[in-house]
Amino acid sequence: MLVCHCHRVTDTRIAQTLAAGADGVRGVVRATRAGSGCGGCIPVLRQLCAERAAASSCALHADEVMAG
Ligand code: FES
Repeated sequence: MLVCHCHRVTDTRIAQTLAAGADGVRGVVRATRAGSGCGGCIPVLRQLCAERAAASSCALHADEVMAG
């Protein structure tokens, strides 16, 4: 799905950027330029970053539970 129409950045590209270690919205903007045009996609970038952070947090907690 195309997230940033100004720079033609997809949700897949953003997910890959976050998985590669981009630091939140700012890191995604630096790596992809998404959000650096009209700014209309910034809310979606924030949402994708929040979802990624929540998933990481869940994974971390699962590790803690399994370690026991
Ligand atoms: S839609 Fe992303 S900066 Fe305009």
